Amino acid sequence: MKRVGMAAALALLGLAGCGRGAADQNNAAAPAEAAQALTIHQIMLGQVVPASNAVWAIQEAPDDAGWKAAADNAQKLVDAANTLVSGEHPLLGPGEAVQGGDAPGASTPAQIEDRIRTAPDDWRKHAQAMQAASLQVIAAAGAKDLDRVMDAGNTLYDTCEACHQQFWHPEQAQ
Ligand code: HEC
Repeated sequence: MKRVGMAAALALLGLAGCGRGAADQNNAAAPAEAAQALTIHQIMLGQVVPASNAVWAIQEAPDDAGWKAAADNAQKLVDAANTLVSGEHPLLGPGEAVQGGDAPGASTPAQIEDRIRTAPDDWRKHAQAMQAASLQVIAAAGAKDLDRVMDAGNTLYDTCEACHQQFWHPEQAQ
């Protein structure tokens, strides 16, 4: 059952990466001192998506490299959560657009920014929930406990959705 949840998460999020390679590349090349200037969009596509996909891609019987990859990528999510709550991050930069933003009824970037600006505590809470789930992944991978990695991976997925529901697309929660 857990497998199914993870696979569904992968399928859903796999849709998101299309056509956004440029943002990923910019982000990968960004020096540490430029971290403040990252957009939320770049943090999602350049850090959060690849790291979480790697966590969810853990194999049935991981070897040492597999456990380490899960833990290392979960650590990237811990770091990304810190970035999300540190400093000011604009939602989008020039040429960036929110996935699905042109669909009828979709939140506009201004609406998303407004939600973030007016509920900073909730924003922080969601980022911290993502961080807590990622720390669970690290602990479980360290213990080489696949069930716990899967459970923590499912919890991780829920933390993505919870933040997206509140800030990105509350119009989809009907
Ligand atoms: C603290 C809030 C928060 C958390 C936690 C969060 N996200 Fe996001 N995410 C956003 C916001 C806001 C947007 C809309 C802006 C954008 O398009 O990047 C977004 C957008 C995205 C997008 C769409 C990017 C695009 O192409 O427009 C993807 C994919 C995504 N997030 C994946 C994830 C995954 C996977 C996780 C969990 C591992 C996660 N997010 C956790 C706030 C969050």
